[in-house]
Amino acid sequence: MGMTRGWMLPALLAAVVSATAAEPEEKRTPLPLGERVPDFTLPDGAGRPRQLRDLAEGKLAVLLFTGGSAPGENLSDAAIKLEPLGSVLVMIVTAARRFPALYDGGGAVTRRFTTRPPTAFLIDGDGILRAFTDASSPDAVVSLVEQWTKGRRAFLSACIRCHEDESYPRLKALHGIGNRLTKEQILERMFPIPLGQEHISIRSHVFRRGEVDALLRYVAGL
Ligand code: HEC
Repeated sequence: MGMTRGWMLPALLAAVVSATAAEPEEKRTPLPLGERVPDFTLPDGAGRPRQLRDLAEGKLAVLLFTGGSAPGENLSDAAIKLEPLGSVLVMIVTAARRFPALYDGGGAVTRRFTTRPPTAFLIDGDGILRAFTDASSPDAVVSLVEQWTKGRRAFLSACIRCHEDESYPRLKALHGIGNRLTKEQILERMFPIPLGQEHISIRSHVFRRGEVDALLRYVAGL
């Protein structure tokens, strides 16, 4: 048993993590995961000033910074695909003049969020940054939301009794863990035990590999 675990674990870690962490995402944004993002006001397509907090309060929202280039594909596709997950607000911030987006001509707001656009941020109803990705296609936006939602479901079913956020007497706080550990390190500290090719046991809960991926994304944003 001990030996099996010894040689299988590195391969397992590589397999699970390679799908998520193609490049160190940490470097893309100066904003910490698990913290409130700075509020801002930018003009919309009609020139009306719009405030992030007003638009996004109480909603799960994706905030997509495209930088100087206009979003290549129609992001209303993303909004449509996201419908089954409940209402997710998709907001685009761009320096390219374009219709339904928020216009950040000088790029000052963009620079507060990302060093290398495009970057998509997932923000919860309290304005807390939960996850981000460098991809900007509708599919990537959908995947960001789906993964996080799936990870949240797994966390609520298997982990929350020991890792509740505020009130519960915690055994171990996970808040901000994604800022100090890579996804690989987070997984190691969950003491995963491989069960064959497809399944992984963590704290006696059995997960499929895809679920572990999603769980890591969720935990990183706590
Ligand atoms: C029975 C209680 C319990 C459950 C259930 C549990 N954990 Fe933990 N977890 C702990 C304790 C206690 C620690 C700290 C001691 C240790 O490292 O073993 C910990 C540590 C961790 C750490 C390392 C934190 C750090 O800062 O180093 C991570 C990550 C983690 N748990 C994630 C999870 C995830 C994800 C789940 C759900 C799949 C989970 N835990 C389920 C009790 C639990």
